[in-house]
This record gives sequence, C-alpha cells and structure tokens, in this order.
Amino acid sequence: MKQDLIVILDLGSTNNTVLARDIRGLGVYSEIHPHDITLEELKALENVKGIILNGGENRVVDGCEVEVRPELYELGYPIISVDYPQSKCATQLSELPDPETLKKFVFDECGAEANWNMKNFIADQVELVRRQVGDKKVLLALSGGVDSSVVAALLIRAIGQQLVCVHVNHGLMRKNESESVVKVFQNELHANLIYVDAVDRFLGKLEHVADPEQKRKIIGGEFIRVFEEEARKLEGIEFLGQGTIYPDIIESGTKTAKMVKSHHNVGGLPEDLQFELVEPLKQLFKDEVRACGVELGLPHEMVYRQPFPGPGLGVRCLGAITRERLEAVRESDAILREEFARAGLDKKVWQYFTVVPDFKSVGMKNHERVFEYMVIVRAINTVDAMTATVEKVDWEVLERITERILAEVANVNRVCYDMSPKPPATIEFE
Ligand code: XMP
Repeated sequence: MKQDLIVILDLGSTNNTVLARDIRGLGVYSEIHPHDITLEELKALENVKGIILNGGENRVVDGCEVEVRPELYELGYPIISVDYPQSKCATQLSELPDPETLKKFVFDECGAEANWNMKNFIADQVELVRRQVGDKKVLLALSGGVDSSVVAALLIRAIGQQLVCVHVNHGLMRKNESESVVKVFQNELHANLIYVDAVDRFLGKLEHVADPEQKRKIIGGEFIRVFEEEARKLEGIEFLGQGTIYPDIIESGTKTAKMVKSHHNVGGLPEDLQFELVEPLKQLFKDEVRACGVELGLPHEMVYRQPFPGPGLGVRCLGAITRERLEAVRESDAILREEFARAGLDKKVWQYFTVVPDFKSVGMKNHERVFEYMVIVRAINTVDAMTATVEKVDWEVLERITERILAEVANVNRVCYDMSPKPPATIEFE
C-alpha cells in the first residue's frame, strides 16, 4: 500500500466515521477498527503511522468498560486518547476539539504524509485485485447504479476480460438506463458484458400483484434467479465482485461500533454457487466512491446519479403494475429529469421522481371527456433519508413540467405535486 494510515480504535465513540472523514479530509488515509484488535492484526496493517483511542458514551458494553490490550502501548506508535480515562498514553484529550489539534497529531507527531488520493487508491486496488484473482474470472451484477458501475470500471482496469459483467434489464429501469450501461461498458470500456433482457419475465411475474411487499419480494427473488441462471452457464468463475462500501461494513449502533467482516450476502445465491468476494470499494465513503468513478473516467451522469431504489420504477407504478402505467412513469420521470437539469435543480435536489397511482380521474381532451391516470411529482431533500423536506420548486418550473407531461405522456390527464415531508410520509410511495 502506498498510503500512510492513521488507525482509529473504537472505544465507544459515536463519531468514529466523522473522525475518519476528517482525517481523510487532511489527505491521510484512516480506518476504524474494533477496540480489541489483536497486535497481529494491527501489525498486519501496512504503513500505520499513529493510533487514536476514540472513547465515548458507548464505552460500557454489557456492564463492562471496554479497554484496549495493554501491549498496544509498547508497540511504539504515537497514540492519543480521546474521552478514554483508562488510557496509559501521554496525550489524553477529553475531546478532539479543533482541526489544529488533529493536524498536529497526524502530521507532527505521527509524521504522516498527505498521500491519500484516488490515483494512489486505484493503483493500490488494481494491484491487490490482481494479486487476489490471479488468472481466474470474476462475475459482477452490473445494475448501472453508482457502486456497481465504479466497481466494474475498477475491475476492468485491473483484470480486463477476466471480469464478466451481467446486466439484467428487469423492465423497471429508467428511460435509456440499460442502453447507457451497454453504451458505456460494452462500447466504450470494452467490458465482457452479458445483457439479459428479462422484461417479459419480470412483468409476467408481477402481473396482478398489488401488495408493495409482495412486489419487492418478487423483484428481488427473480433477480437472484436470473443472475444465478447466467452464472451457471459460465465456466471457471471463482470470484464475485461486489460494490460494498465503507458505510455498509461499519455497524452504527448503541454498542461500540464494531467492524463487521464484509457482508457475506452474496444475494442469496445457492450453496454450490458460493464465490470468494472481491470488494475493492469497501474502504470508501460514498463521495469517495464517486471521486473514484470520475478518476476512472465514468460519465458524470452515472457517477452523480440520484439514489434509485433496487425495485426501480416498480415501486413508483403503484399497485399492480401494467405496461401502460409503467410507460407513464418512465416517460414522466424522463421529462422531470430533463426539466430539473435545465433549471439546475439536478445538482441541488437530493431525490426527485414521478409516481403513477392505479386509479383514474375525469378530464377533457379535444372537447371530449377522458378518464385517465395522474402523475405525481415528488422532489425532496435529506441528509440520511431518515427524514426529508420538500423542495420548494419554482412555479414556472412546475408549470413547464406539467405542460410537457400532459402533452407528451400517453394516458395522463392530471399532474400533482407532493407536498408531504417525511415523516409522516416516506420518500417512496410503496
Ligand atoms: P423511504 O421510502 O423509506 O426511502 O423513505 C428512503 C430511501 O431509500 C430508497 N429506497 C430503496 N432503496 N431498495 C433500495 O435500494 C429499496 O427497496 C428501496 N426502497 C426505498 C428511497 O428511494 C429513498 O432514497
């Protein structure tokens, strides 16, 4: 590894990730590890320059105060402790108050160099992946989302044609999304890509299913089956690429946040299809994943996509999905995205989409009574998706969106704007 490392040992702090982000913000790589890391595990980490014992309110677990192994102090690393009274090290702080103290520790006491950047990260991961995989093949489910796209680009750089990407078009993708996956990965990056058109299969299974949970189960389950069928057709695959990222592997909770080993959640694949995982992004926060994607040359739209639920437009075509209403969701969503981009709102608003309910309302078109669907527009801002506020979109922008949806989307005669914050509403409707 080329990067210097500052290790944060979690002794019950609730701000481990904030601290790790702050240190990475100084250009120095930082990782969070459990308080009871063994000396062997610590020594196995490369380029450790210093250790922060990060205490806090969750220091007591099951009635006992957590402590680090005493031998840790003998290893010769510069150590500071924060809110950890039992510590035996010279510098004990009750909190890490200002950026200057952190800088002094990282650069002056530890002598770390600011060498954490995406170029070095990619170079390291390329080398590690090559070492792990050798001349074997890696399989990757490429949805076109940020994480799977960045993993794909990184693995293509590392192992080229040894990577086999499978893109399943389940018919619930946004307009031109599957096409753009093929264009970028097959035509431009020359990936070994298997495109599976499973539209009829998914929509068939979903026919007449109105219950939201049931819909999600069918979409998730069917996805695994399609992927598994493709995997069985291939020979010599020993690894599975996954877009696991750092927040996925840090358990946040009321107990001391322990490092969970990678999520060995291979999408529920059967026993005889268990692969070893390749997870080159597992140390990155979301914004770092995006920076990595940019460095690897992925298009901006792909790297800065807004969040999109796994079940796709399936949960925005409310109730039992029909092709007619699904098209109305897809077309209105495309118009909304175009108009938001034109108004510069795509860079400001966290998530925006359209929804089509499964009932009709009366209207007039060409002097005739019509009975057609409505499109609901939703645009929200949030930090963590737990709560959300509604974006106050300019009236003119809403008018333009409405005009275009009514003129261009078939079977729609009404457009509404959802004014509900979360809570009590959720972001999605199903
Ligand atoms: P809710 O509707 O619960 O959504 O307020 C919170 C955020 O999660 C996204 N979401 C999903 N993402 N699979 C996903 O990967 C899902 O099944 C799913 N359901 C909701 C939603 O778009 C919002 O950003």
